[in-house]
Amino acid sequence: MGDKKRFTSSRKLDHLRICAENEVESGDAGFGDIRFIHNAMPECDMGKIDLSTRFLDHRFDSPLFISAMTGGHPRTKEVNARLARMAERFGIGMGVGSQRAALENPQLADTFTVVRDEAPHAFLVANLGAVQLRDHGNEWAARAVEQIEADAIAIHLNFLQEAIQPEGDHNATGCLAAIESLCADTTVPVIVKETGCGISGTTAWQCWGVGVRAIEIGGWGGTSWAAVESVRAGESRNAHDKRLKSLGTEFSDWGIPTVVSLAEVLATGGPVIASGGIRTGMDIAKCLALGADLCGMALPLLKPALESDEALAQQIEARHHELAVAMFLSGSGKIADLKKARMYIMGRTRQMIGKDNHVSTSR
Ligand SMILES: Cc1cc2nc3c(=O)[nH]c(=O)nc-3n(C[C@H](O)[C@H](O)[C@H](O)COP(=O)(O)O)c2cc1C
Repeated sequence: MGDKKRFTSSRKLDHLRICAENEVESGDAGFGDIRFIHNAMPECDMGKIDLSTRFLDHRFDSPLFISAMTGGHPRTKEVNARLARMAERFGIGMGVGSQRAALENPQLADTFTVVRDEAPHAFLVANLGAVQLRDHGNEWAARAVEQIEADAIAIHLNFLQEAIQPEGDHNATGCLAAIESLCADTTVPVIVKETGCGISGTTAWQCWGVGVRAIEIGGWGGTSWAAVESVRAGESRNAHDKRLKSLGTEFSDWGIPTVVSLAEVLATGGPVIASGGIRTGMDIAKCLALGADLCGMALPLLKPALESDEALAQQIEARHHELAVAMFLSGSGKIADLKKARMYIMGRTRQMIGKDNHVSTSR
């Protein structure tokens, strides 16, 4: 195996280990600024709350979505298998991590194909970086889709991570054109996703304009790739990498909070997957009430996925239970009702999503 291919694969394992063993969350997604208006007369039966929903012409038993995480190193196969078994068991959607490593080295393909083996009926989302799409073209995207018989493909934007990681790609030119070409060429819907810095209304308009079918927010306030890469750089013996450690710390504060990003993107259209710092069923309820279609979680599912099927199932059931309680207390028997639930929006989030809050300097 060439050095580059080996690095792509071992980096995937580094990320998993660092996320599992270190404090890699930073910021405030904004959920604390949102309160449901309590419905003292809910007129629905909590035992009959219906969590089912639709997204991109598919039916889901619940709006919880397993956001992209892993694959691409032999030791990630079991983690992906576990996540996929849960996607199948709970009737929820799942994204796989970047398939780059397995496209560079087909010997790693089974770390991804296992997902379709374990989840024959689930809505699965393939994953590729925008930079890899630009550099390798639509053929790589087609192979990624084929590898897991995907129902959609997510193209991830992760330029904060690229800016901080020692081997990062610092040239972001040509990515929008590559996404446009993919949208015109592919048989499955294209989703654009961020990975922890959020998507602005302006970026959303660019995406819809080139034919993107859905956006995953990946907002600030959950897993921080600045923090992850800062830990990784700190583990390096190389002096330049060590300097990147403080850069990562500095930029762990960079990004659009999830709730703000969600409001901005929803103002431009949809469908939208909310993600980034979603930690409870109540967070999920808040995102749905704001207008999200699905709600993605990554880090909170990683730790139980490294442990056992049962630990992962318990985590998912606990989030579903919290969601059902929030729906009950807001008088929402089904997801469509929740979308009409009323909320107070306060504090910094209210300021940020208010009109006239963007400063632009004319030069
Ligand atoms: C260990 C780990 C690996 C990830 N790898 C990918 C990836 O390969 N591709 C991608 O689009 N997002 C990746 N993500 C980002 C997540 O999909 C998600 O956008 C982000 O972590 C925010 O969600 P969270 O706060 O619930 O973790 C990864 C996240 C984690 C925790």
